[in-house]
Amino acid sequence: MQICFELSGEHRTLPTAEACAALRAEAIEYHQVAEQPGVLIVEICDGGVGRLGLVAERLAMTHAIHRVITTTPTAAEEIIETISGADLSEFIDADQTYSVRVKFARNPWDRESSKSFGFSHRLLPKLEAGIGGVVGSYGSRADLGMPDVPFKLLLTPGIGIFTTILHTVDRSSFELRKPQNKPFFYPGVLMPRVARALVNLAEVRRGDILLDPFCGTGGILVEAGLLGVRVIGSDVQERIAKGAGMNLGYYMGDYALIYQDAADLSLRNGSVDAVVTDPPYGRSARITGKGSNKLVADALSEIHRVLKEKKKAVILYNKPLLDLLLHTGFLIVECHVQRVHRSLNRYIHLVEKP
Ligand SMILES: C[S@@+](CC[C@H](N)C(=O)[O-])C[C@H]1O[C@@H](n2cnc3c(N)ncnc32)[C@H](O)[C@@H]1O
Repeated sequence: MQICFELSGEHRTLPTAEACAALRAEAIEYHQVAEQPGVLIVEICDGGVGRLGLVAERLAMTHAIHRVITTTPTAAEEIIETISGADLSEFIDADQTYSVRVKFARNPWDRESSKSFGFSHRLLPKLEAGIGGVVGSYGSRADLGMPDVPFKLLLTPGIGIFTTILHTVDRSSFELRKPQNKPFFYPGVLMPRVARALVNLAEVRRGDILLDPFCGTGGILVEAGLLGVRVIGSDVQERIAKGAGMNLGYYMGDYALIYQDAADLSLRNGSVDAVVTDPPYGRSARITGKGSNKLVADALSEIHRVLKEKKKAVILYNKPLLDLLLHTGFLIVECHVQRVHRSLNRYIHLVEKP
């Protein structure tokens, strides 16, 4: 069965990487069929469909997960012709209600995808009505408010993707958890959607142990804990570790916080399933004990030591750490770059302990 992720355009590569990692974390076998601006299509086995709700619950950078009915050319007449030729009886019964929405799926990072589609937004209601007419011919009734079957056509520069929406991602909950709304706040922390995407990249499952040895206000730990992951955080500043405790206590009952140096962790070898961390860059975040290069090198050795074999770590930094990560013994899986502002890029390294 073909599944389509309607991606948020907030980053060039992270939404796709997050969606694929979440499928792996929920043990849904997939292969990638196509990637269009703002859209990822994968083939999954029918057995995985029941677990897609769990994938939707964990994602931060996806708007919705759809089932693909058919793909179409992008000219209006050809769209109606293609959808008329598709057998929709598998998707809707005469006693069910439906809605039809058409959306231009774009990735703002991709110039091509921002070009015109050959017809304007003003034609979308007409197209929705035309597709509605095809769906209505199965005897069903339109209901734009609470339809039983929400149909959607995602228009990308190359193809139209006609779908039914299986799961919508509730992205508003991330807004509620923005750093300023938490009991303990200091500036320069990760936004919850980014933190959740990083946790997903590490492919953690419910009950796993995730460590953040530079936990700051605990933003990464909160996002992991809300997925049912057991979290351990540590920070060298006692005041900050206490603040992280206030934030974690606000969202969950169970967590461990240690006041310690990331270069000397009091954890056993091979004792954690994932590490996601954002060490200080030697700019605003306080670095205790040593310079940032030495601290990061020592902390990476410790992270490698405490991580189980075949498990993943996500390490952020303000410059690429590829040589250092390889030297420490990690395999590099992916590297994403996030522009924070004019003079700060975050390098997001996804690595595995072989
Ligand atoms: C960039 S901040 C982490 C922000 C965090 N991701 C958040 O969302 O709040 C880096 C943190 O590393 C801590 N830190 C600095 N040196 C440390 C060390 N040697 N060991 C552990 N933590 C350290 C700082 O106190 C700071 O809280």
